[in-house]
Amino acid sequence: MADQPRIPKPTARRLSLYLRELESLLEQGKSTINSTGLGAALDLTDAQVRKDLSTFGQFGRPGVGYDITALRAELRRIMGTDRQWNVVVVGAGNIGTAVTRYPRFGDRGFRVAAVFDADPAVVGNTVAGHQVLPVSDIQSRLPAMNISLAIIAVPAEGAQQVADMLVAAGISGILNFAPVYLSVPDGVAVSSVDLARSLEQLAFEISADLA
Ligand code: NAI
Repeated sequence: MADQPRIPKPTARRLSLYLRELESLLEQGKSTINSTGLGAALDLTDAQVRKDLSTFGQFGRPGVGYDITALRAELRRIMGTDRQWNVVVVGAGNIGTAVTRYPRFGDRGFRVAAVFDADPAVVGNTVAGHQVLPVSDIQSRLPAMNISLAIIAVPAEGAQQVADMLVAAGISGILNFAPVYLSVPDGVAVSSVDLARSLEQLAFEISADLA
């Protein structure tokens, strides 16, 4: 995007935290918030909040704070969530089903458009209104579906092969639940979810507090 400011990586990582907090404030009927309030909710200093948000332009007004609706719209634009993203889910087991059924992705601009699985006993089942399609159809079906994001929720041993199929079908962003490193070409982004690692970090923090 030509008019996109360069956003430092740590700021970019905080964008969705800001966005989630702004959504919640709007739900509570608030229309403005100052940097101190936003910082307190997210455990950041008000100086950090002002620095982050100044990257995107001047939203704050001294004594008034940020206009929540305007700031949300700008963050959504920058994050690309002001448009609808179609997402494909591969693996209709515990995780894939839970993700597909989650009703609030839609509020954030993500729509599950198709679900694939390899198991003939699962293919043809309906998950949240989607008939599960055979994974062997990825190549033939995806290109016409206008989908650029995928969620991989298959066992580790099948994940790389699935990733290769998705990339070959034009997917450029993968959210990976499988506990395995995925090798993808340049230009394809992978983000991995690892609950065990997050729990380990929490356990470590608690142990460090106790020590
Ligand atoms: P599951 O066994 O309930 O579901 C896996 C599904 O993938 C099954 O329906 C199976 O038929 C399908 N599948 C297997 N190979 C496939 C292939 N090559 N192509 C398409 N579909 C295929 O497993 P669950 O519990 O949903 O876990 C999914 C993945 O998420 C696993 O890799 C698991 O280790 C991982 N996981 C990750 C967590 C995390 O924190 N990231 C937490 C829990 C699980």
